[in-house]
Amino acid sequence: MQPSGGRRVVLGITAGIAAFKAAELARLLVRDGADVQVVMTRSAGQFIGPMTLQAITGRPVRDALFDPVHEAAMGHIELARWADVILVAPATADFIARIAIGMADDLLSTLCLASGAPLLLAPAMNQAMWGHPATQANVAALVERGATLLGPDDGDQACGDTGPGRMREPAALLGDLQASLVGARFAGRRVIVTAGPTQEPLDPVRFLGNRSSGKMGFALAAALTAQGAEVVLISGPVALPTPRGVERIDVESALQMRDAVLAELPEAVLFIACAAVADYRPLEVAAHKIKKEGTSSLKLELVRNPDILAEVSARAERPFCVGFAAETDDLEAAAESKMRTKGLDMIAANQVSVSRGFGTDDNALLVIWNDGRVALANQPKTQLAVQLVDLIADRFDAQAATKNSG
Ligand code: CTP
Repeated sequence: MQPSGGRRVVLGITAGIAAFKAAELARLLVRDGADVQVVMTRSAGQFIGPMTLQAITGRPVRDALFDPVHEAAMGHIELARWADVILVAPATADFIARIAIGMADDLLSTLCLASGAPLLLAPAMNQAMWGHPATQANVAALVERGATLLGPDDGDQACGDTGPGRMREPAALLGDLQASLVGARFAGRRVIVTAGPTQEPLDPVRFLGNRSSGKMGFALAAALTAQGAEVVLISGPVALPTPRGVERIDVESALQMRDAVLAELPEAVLFIACAAVADYRPLEVAAHKIKKEGTSSLKLELVRNPDILAEVSARAERPFCVGFAAETDDLEAAAESKMRTKGLDMIAANQVSVSRGFGTDDNALLVIWNDGRVALANQPKTQLAVQLVDLIADRFDAQAATKNSG
């Protein structure tokens, strides 16, 4: 995790009741060493006074696009270039809608449009407004364009409702911002990540698949990119946008995934096998759609797929290999034995059930290597990925140091 010290943060505040929490967020950022410029929308002033924020940050709050005094000192385009990161907390439904369509009708929306800095959004609104397809479509469009969504959290709301829409707590937002800052733990290093399920064709319209959503692998690809890695993300069929800066190769079956991995292998120093690869595929793929007429049952003969991770790990010249183990029983022992049989450097194990692990946004991991283990608590997969990348980098560096001294 990078401290925000020395970073120039534009803290955008829009008109939601959660704006009162922005004062605490500003204080935490300043305490962490960040240089904070608050930019408020006009109506945000109904919820929190600019004087409070000015006192905390030591900088006059900006709230107007056409403000001759401030424009003379630092014009809005200069401010857009000044920012290392823009964090909007709270981000209302209205503000999200305006920037989703590229409006620039006040200072904050103009900055979002004019700046190349990473944009972090902490939504805060009534749960029905958050759930509305219009908001969801706006958020999806922004994420697709590279914005990072922080929350919202689930819980009691100021309006009396309960549900998703609460702004994340200031301390959590500081952690999110620190996690998003570009580090250099894998600077310039090529990394392969597999993600998602595989689909094993039965006939031209049917396949055998599994419940993997790809969320963990995609979060890892984003977290590795944030540490300077050149990431090749080899993904089975998923409904997720490609994280910014990641090279994505789409595949369907295990055999295609294996070919793609082997083709990328020569340059890679790290291989993270996060995909839920089907262990078996149909022996024969029917050329025509299988018809049910005249049958009361259907027997399928399946053959084993190659184990991509074991194959990579068995090579003489091989990258640092990290595997995943999704287990329903006896997590630790099963993961340890998987790590040994496949000859891995590290394994990340998670307990799965119908409601946990696959497809969800949160997860917990038990990470094991030859002489250590760490339990990572249940949390959003995006944050889990940041922590896992940190652990991998520690082990990767330690292994490199041993090799160099040996
Ligand atoms: N893996 C792989 N290629 C396969 C199967 C699995 O690369 N054909 C990788 C996965 O990406 C994951 C790890 O191996 O990192 C999972 O190990 P595996 O033994 O396949 O787990 P399960 O399929 O859950 O095995 P089992 O059903 O035997 O527990």
